[in-house]
Amino acid sequence: MALGDFDLREEIMPVAAVIGAQWGDEGKGKIVDMLAEKAKMVIRFSGGDNAGHTVVNPYGQFGLHLVPSGIFYPQTTCIIGNGVVINPEALISEIYMLNKRGVDTSTLFISDRTHLIMPYHILLDGLEEEARGGKALGTTRKGIGPTYADKAARLGIRTGDLMDKEIFMERLRPILNHKNLILTKVYKASPLSLDDVYARYCQYGERLAPYIRDTLTMIEEALIREEPILLEGAQGTLLDPDFGTYPYVTSSSPLAGGGCLGSGLGPSRLTHILGVFKAYGSRVGSGPMPTELKEEIGNSIREIGHEYGSTTGRPRRCGWFDGVAARFSTSINSFTTAAITRLDVLDTFPQLKICTGYKLDGATITHFPASISSLERCQPIYEEVPGWQVPTSDIRQYEQLPAEARQYVARLEEIISCPASIISVGMRREQTIIRKPLF
Ligand code: IMP
Repeated sequence: MALGDFDLREEIMPVAAVIGAQWGDEGKGKIVDMLAEKAKMVIRFSGGDNAGHTVVNPYGQFGLHLVPSGIFYPQTTCIIGNGVVINPEALISEIYMLNKRGVDTSTLFISDRTHLIMPYHILLDGLEEEARGGKALGTTRKGIGPTYADKAARLGIRTGDLMDKEIFMERLRPILNHKNLILTKVYKASPLSLDDVYARYCQYGERLAPYIRDTLTMIEEALIREEPILLEGAQGTLLDPDFGTYPYVTSSSPLAGGGCLGSGLGPSRLTHILGVFKAYGSRVGSGPMPTELKEEIGNSIREIGHEYGSTTGRPRRCGWFDGVAARFSTSINSFTTAAITRLDVLDTFPQLKICTGYKLDGATITHFPASISSLERCQPIYEEVPGWQVPTSDIRQYEQLPAEARQYVARLEEIISCPASIISVGMRREQTIIRKPLF
């Protein structure tokens, strides 16, 4: 029997990772919300409440930061995986908001291995940004970087530690002493009170206790039952600490590989890796973005696409589709399929541009450089394509898209070497063209 005969991927139950392919804000929330209807489990695996996933469905419009976008389907178990960092106050208020708006959260579970964002992480995120002055990273100031730094430095406190108040105090006391030294001696800030932090986090622990589990067992059981599972990415590939525009990156891996680490699913479990690409480019925060349009067209894209950060409200930097970055993203994630979102935002433009290479110091390059000083010097090489100038938001069949829109999608598919199985033409669930169902 040939090796290929053993490839039963089409027949086994899907485990699909939904990955941001650019700098975040690609519209993953909508795609997960849509796919979650057929999934039995949705797992968030990276980041924290720096993420902002906008979901518009029959319950209304929601900005989710920590709760997986599958929460709107009662049959779907939602897991906050071990790779996520949790601000308990933010999570509790998100759960409260959902319940108040009629969404049941009894299907939500939090891995006991998730790390807690503590008050000193949030303070330090802000103080470190201020100390960087003109070189600030433009973080969301939610304490994400300092929490992951502590996880790596073995100074973290995990959500599971809240389940035993003595263990929690044993961890907290020396760590808070150390953090207070940094706050007071390095930054001349006020120290935090051990009693206050302890009491507050014990209360959070009591409130979150019903949700905290060893989620690995739940995932293992779902695999045994052969249930479809979705991994919900946060942020985007180009913000990955290894492959993104370092140091202008986030602190956990938004890649498909990060999906395995942040959930406990082994790599061979993934049957589909769906890259979510916005039909143009956007970035929030600092760092190089070769196709950024600083003037009229960039502003038009921002206004038409309401491109303002859903976590911080900051205006997003907008530009043309960067094919060099997109190809790089496909390569390091091994996308098997793609979703192209916000195609409708380009409806009014008579001409569109797609970046297919960079000019760097007089040479043409087609790879995404590791060094940001090189990337900052890269000038995009554009291919011009005609726009379609027809509204697309009400179109549901691919064949009904104007020819120029189909040509645009086909060109993106060619660049990323990946078929676009989903095309999104609006924020609502139904504003979607499904060319090949994932499940
Ligand atoms: P941090 O993750 O808050 O440390 O921010 C580091 C960088 O990642 C900043 O440029 C943020 O704007 C960016 N970032 C973090 N989360 C998101 C997201 O969900 N969407 C887009 N950008 C993000």
